[in-house]
Amino acid sequence: MNVEITFTVNGQTLSARVHPGTSLLDLLRDQGFTGTKQGCGVGECGACTVLVNQLPVDSCLFLAVWAQGKAVRTIEGEALGNVLSPVQEAYLDAGAVQCGFCTPGLIMNSTAFVEKHQGQTVSREDIRRGHAGNLCRCTGYTTIVDAVERCLKK
Ligand code: FES
Ligand code: FES
Repeated sequence: MNVEITFTVNGQTLSARVHPGTSLLDLLRDQGFTGTKQGCGVGECGACTVLVNQLPVDSCLFLAVWAQGKAVRTIEGEALGNVLSPVQEAYLDAGAVQCGFCTPGLIMNSTAFVEKHQGQTVSREDIRRGHAGNLCRCTGYTTIVDAVERCLKK
């Protein structure tokens, strides 16, 4: 039996009827939010990271029904028109993107991290620990940490 759920995605209301076992990742991608990627599908890679009420979650493990009444942010909501978000801009400046498969999930996690730690003293080790759930096979992480550090210093 499907259930009706309503939540916001990037500030817009989304209502859908879903099977209770549907992941938030599958629902988002079915609704056209394909910027959120599926890597492992089992909570290991972080490619599917979105923010739910400002907290990063692996949307492959997060049931769509748990989003009922909540605010979801995906990569599609980060740039305003042609203007990149500060985190997206910093990734670009630091050269933190190669194939880009991990990038939407990493940027959402970095965004939550930067918003949480703005104005605080944060070490590179803290940044690394804060991104431990996101795997990137391309950039080797140094440039990703550089990008987050750059944002926190602005
Ligand atoms: S696809 Fe969700 S953690 Fe890998
Ligand atoms: S840029 Fe390719 S997996 Fe991260």
